[in-house]
Amino acid sequence: MSDQVIGEPAFARARDGVDPRVVPRLRLADGGTMPAIGMGTFGSDRYRGEDVARAVVEAADLGYRHFDCASVYGNEAQIGGSLRTILAGGIGREELWVTSKLWNDSHGEGQVALACERSLGDLGLDYLDLYLIHWPFPNTHPPGCDMDSRSPNAKPYLHDQYMNTWRQMEELVDRGLTRRIGSSNMTIPKLQLLLRDARIRPACNEMELHPHFQQPELFQYLVSHGITPIGYCPIGSPNRPDRDRSPEDTVDLEDAVITGIASRLNLHPAVVCLKWAITRGQAPIPFSVKRSQLLENLRAAAGDPLSADDMRAISAIDRGRRLIKGQVFLWKDNQGWEDLWDLNGEITPP
Ligand SMILES: NC(=O)c1ccc[n+]([C@@H]2O[C@H](COP(=O)([O-])OP(=O)(O)OC[C@H]3O[C@@H](n4cnc5c(N)ncnc54)[C@H](OP(=O)(O)O)[C@@H]3O)[C@@H](O)[C@H]2O)c1
Repeated sequence: MSDQVIGEPAFARARDGVDPRVVPRLRLADGGTMPAIGMGTFGSDRYRGEDVARAVVEAADLGYRHFDCASVYGNEAQIGGSLRTILAGGIGREELWVTSKLWNDSHGEGQVALACERSLGDLGLDYLDLYLIHWPFPNTHPPGCDMDSRSPNAKPYLHDQYMNTWRQMEELVDRGLTRRIGSSNMTIPKLQLLLRDARIRPACNEMELHPHFQQPELFQYLVSHGITPIGYCPIGSPNRPDRDRSPEDTVDLEDAVITGIASRLNLHPAVVCLKWAITRGQAPIPFSVKRSQLLENLRAAAGDPLSADDMRAISAIDRGRRLIKGQVFLWKDNQGWEDLWDLNGEITPP
């Protein structure tokens, strides 16, 4: 379990909201802290930017202070309007934690600062709390594409090129445009090279984490190297886009261990998944545009952790089932999605 501390004073305005002071925070390697639960903002090609932006204001009202954004979600300008409303409403900038991510089309020389400045402009902020390289591949896909879609110029992971992007990320910290930088969708062999060569180490790594996909080796690697894990799809992403669905996928919310704990504690299975994440020491970033779910999810983080017995039971249901396989980022014909994830412990050769 990681070091969790109680946060600075701040107040939710909604009567039924959660006081942000009782939401756990994760201690980062630089001594700072991050709210241990954030709100995801990817509408999964189902919710419009306006819906997500409205939910961001509602979430802040309920006591959320951590928002997980990305330029590729196509809604940062609308969320910028929400953040202005939140700040104008009396919540201080230093109380918020805002993450954004560099999209794959902006890894090249001179492009990182432009992309970061564009996100800052859209979000209406002077600085980010965390800026992540969204994927370690400079490969893009059209919005709403299917699983077979491939970028004609797709490239493999090339460490020198990744470090060229990382150097530009480091300059953003030097310039004060972001407080911290980090990675996403990485593997242990790629992180080993990054840690060897980085001047500024990644503060966080964002990765898929839910009871059926616990990634225990990567999780332990991060914790032992002072990198805070942020978990996406924490509920098993029941509404993910079709391009991220395959017949072999399993459903966390229907697992008998999860539903058994949920009925014993009188909680929704989604809440059990979030409590598992918080108790384990990763920061889940569940998405919802629904007030009741936003509130239930935040209360899950602020309430009692799971017992050691329940944690043991959930650790036994890991299926190693990745939902977001990333096929659209493959770089040559006849590859399987496994090639993106270095399953044999070495970076897949070009
Ligand atoms: N770094 C990356 O590459 C990456 C990749 C994927 C996602 N992310 C981030 O992670 C966030 C979360 O991932 P995700 O949206 O795919 O998956 P998720 O949070 O696991 O699932 C979200 C869905 O779960 C349902 N839900 C939420 N709270 C619930 C509750 N209390 N009870 C029942 N159902 C509930 C909602 O369904 P309904 O809408 O039907 O109510 C919602 O659409 C994204 O928004 C994004 O910010 C990052």
